[in-house]
Amino acid sequence: MRKVKVALLGATGSIGKSTLEILRKYRDRFELIAFSVHNNLEGFQRIVEEFSPKIGVITGAAELISPPIRTLYGREALIEVASLREVDIIVVATAGNMGVYPTIFGLKSGKRVALANKETLVSFGQIVIDEYKKSRGELIPVDSEHSALFQLTEKYGDQMEELILTASGGPFRNMSREEMEKVSIDDVLKHPVWRMGKKITVDSATLMNKGLEVIEAHWLFNLSPDRIKVLIHPQSILHGLVKMKDGAYLAHMSYPDMKIPIQYALTYPERWQCDFVSLDLSSLRPLEFYGPDTNRFPLLKLAYEALSFGGIMPCVMNAANDVAVESFLKGEIRFLDIEKVVFATFDSFVKESVPGKLSLEALERFNSEARAKATETVTRIKN
Ligand SMILES: NC(=O)c1ccc[n+]([C@@H]2O[C@H](COP(=O)([O-])OP(=O)(O)OC[C@H]3O[C@@H](n4cnc5c(N)ncnc54)[C@H](OP(=O)(O)O)[C@@H]3O)[C@@H](O)[C@H]2O)c1
Repeated sequence: MRKVKVALLGATGSIGKSTLEILRKYRDRFELIAFSVHNNLEGFQRIVEEFSPKIGVITGAAELISPPIRTLYGREALIEVASLREVDIIVVATAGNMGVYPTIFGLKSGKRVALANKETLVSFGQIVIDEYKKSRGELIPVDSEHSALFQLTEKYGDQMEELILTASGGPFRNMSREEMEKVSIDDVLKHPVWRMGKKITVDSATLMNKGLEVIEAHWLFNLSPDRIKVLIHPQSILHGLVKMKDGAYLAHMSYPDMKIPIQYALTYPERWQCDFVSLDLSSLRPLEFYGPDTNRFPLLKLAYEALSFGGIMPCVMNAANDVAVESFLKGEIRFLDIEKVVFATFDSFVKESVPGKLSLEALERFNSEARAKATETVTRIKN
């Protein structure tokens, strides 16, 4: 049987490592052809030794003295890998904006793009979806909520009324604003359910992560913001629900482990055994659901506003949040300062918000300007 050939971008991250577990388990069916890291050279070497890929990419500042395989550098290298003829599936699991390039070029060259990277759709959604519609490529979401909704809407999408994304609520779901004033970096990084990279873990604590997911869902499922809802569900067993026109709900349940949606994106439309984890329904504690409190978590509300404004605003919001989270993780600002930075940046750009379609270059320019503006606010807060 011909092996499915995979390029894994962001191979040393949380999603990257889970993807490698699947490739390891199904060595007879998948072959890792190419991969990328940002600066993690140890991780680079380990992947080369274990999987013998043909090409490695380094997107950060790091360099290898005597590379063990063909090694390429930077953004252009991601585009080259995404366009390789022999690759069937590209898993885009990089952090940050760079994911948009392999996504677009993967789609252009008719490949399956298994998309984990959120920034790609949040900041550049219109461009990616336009490219997807023109291409022969496939766009399969990896984010657990979007994977759930992808599975639910595939058959009945034309009969649905609204989509519901669930959220664990993060570590502070029951905390007051006064208590949130005092939380430490370690408190923020202790997610009650998911083990993920640091950036997304901070976003889960502010609920910005869910806001970004609402924007992703808008592009993936072509729904207006008022038809995409969020429900807090601390146990994270139901990942997505679809409310049908007749009032019935369809729901997707699984153990909260990213290997399940990653594997589905790799094997779609087939389902292969995934015995890393299983869900024992009879031992579940009661499942709870309640609406999000946007007074305590205002970034979720802001994400809806950004989506309604459209144009540059989701990109601006995402850039500001990126800078704010980076600064928080460096200990430069406090937890609640994250939203101050994002709101201040949002407010300064909203007046010049340009409606309608923008080019990738224009969005990248606004992204850089928003980062610069957010950095100014961080500096003001620090001093
Ligand atoms: N973790 C999850 O459960 C989860 C769920 C849904 C969606 N996502 C999304 O998937 C993406 C990856 O998340 P993660 O949690 O796996 O992140 P992570 O653990 O921080 O890993 C990020 C990966 O991307 C590389 N990287 C870092 N900065 C980069 C940059 N500027 N350009 C290109 N590559 C870069 C890293 O390389 P080095 O190791 O060399 O730094 C690493 O391989 C994010 O967009 C996240 O929102 C994650």
